[in-house]
Amino acid sequence: MAVIAGPEQTTGPQYGDDTPLPAPRLTVIGTGYLGATHAICMAVLGFDVLGVDVDESKIKRLSEGEVPFFEPGLPQLLAKALDSGRLRFTTSFEEAAEFGDIHFLCVGTPQQQGSDAADLRYVDSAVTALAPHLRRRTLVVGKSTVPVGTAARLTELVRRLAPAGDQVELAWNPEFLREGFAIDDTIHPDRLVFGVSSARAEERLRAAFAPVIATGTPVVVTDLTTAELVKVAANSFLATKISYINAMAEVCEATGGDVRGLARALAYDDRIGGRFLKPGLGFGGGCLPKDIRAFAHRAEELGVGQAVAFLREVDAINLRRRSRTVDLIRELAGGGDLTGVRVAALGAAFKPNSDDIRDAPALDVAAALHRLGAQVTVVDPEATHNARRAHPELDYATDAIAAATGADVVALLTEWNQFQEIDPDIMGSVVAHRRIFDGRDALDATRWRAAGWEYRALGRP
Ligand code: UDX
Repeated sequence: MAVIAGPEQTTGPQYGDDTPLPAPRLTVIGTGYLGATHAICMAVLGFDVLGVDVDESKIKRLSEGEVPFFEPGLPQLLAKALDSGRLRFTTSFEEAAEFGDIHFLCVGTPQQQGSDAADLRYVDSAVTALAPHLRRRTLVVGKSTVPVGTAARLTELVRRLAPAGDQVELAWNPEFLREGFAIDDTIHPDRLVFGVSSARAEERLRAAFAPVIATGTPVVVTDLTTAELVKVAANSFLATKISYINAMAEVCEATGGDVRGLARALAYDDRIGGRFLKPGLGFGGGCLPKDIRAFAHRAEELGVGQAVAFLREVDAINLRRRSRTVDLIRELAGGGDLTGVRVAALGAAFKPNSDDIRDAPALDVAAALHRLGAQVTVVDPEATHNARRAHPELDYATDAIAAATGADVVALLTEWNQFQEIDPDIMGSVVAHRRIFDGRDALDATRWRAAGWEYRALGRP
């Protein structure tokens, strides 16, 4: 990680005179994936940070130096931040209001039960808990992914509830961090987006991100509405790109083409580019699926549903990859009934280097196979604990060889490095049948076939 100038080494913004403002004190409300990472990184960058959550056990664990989820490098950075004395955690919103010059809202916006809309209850309750304690000039900065129009509504709410009234401003600063790369994406983001309604809010945000801006990070300053839209537009684009190549995989399946070659050929065109053009079992996780659904839902509410109607198809293509995977595994097993067929499922997390199983294609496929009567043994380097809680009906193994022992079909569902490095001869010696399904276009088909395996993949002959 590159060395970064702390906020004390940068020239602060000025309010019409020559006195640089001191670095702002930050609170981070919501210490889940986004919030914990943000709080830790900001403290390491030199700010005084207070992390706030209603979940006492989470606050206790973080205070004791334990990161409650898997993210490479974050435990070490948490230890560093705690040692520096610049990072503390609390459950008190009163303390937070007293402490912070800038409050970052990092709570979750999951999909509502029984609807495609985003559930804003955590955002609303964070604002409702904080605002009555805001007695001086402050900036509240939303980072959560929200339906367009939320920031305007929250501005009204916060001003109505805060004793400081219109001394409290709201800004929106969407976050683009990827799990597995959360630290780098926070400290060296591709860009910063500041949605503001005043020059003062922009100045405060520039002060809060001074060390990040000092390394040359581009800043896009815009209004609240556009800032809200940037995030869903970015995630929609990425989801569309993945589903585009997976739609081409469907066409390849019907015509005998090879989507791997197709994707490689497209990637050489700079205008298209190869990133997020990897065919396979498709996207999952806590962001892409629920964000495109919430966006489509919000657009429909606003009467512009037609403009993003394609997102419904993007979602459908993505989900069809899962059922196609089940069909291919059934074909590999000889077709017909799956009852008693033993399947080794390599992977449960929605992507490698994560323990996140939210809307995970891998686990979805494993559960579907189980429902069809297969005997499924799942292995995942980090997500087993979460997977077992969500799907206690599945069997779990501690390593790939144990999972594959006696298997009729081995299915690679999440492309962890260690699965890609499996020796087909060694695994071949423990399975009942040498049949491999590559759901992530991650294995060397020639090598596996040479070792006597029947190899199948999505979108490939
Ligand atoms: C995503 C966005 O990238 C991030 O900017 C946003 O803030 C949150 O959502 P994340 O959910 O961590 O981040 O995962 P990402 O690395 O974007 O992958 C999303 C999904 O797409 C994964 O399930 C991955 O397996 C899948 N994917 C990715 C593909 O199927 N093919 C690809 O080519 C790339």
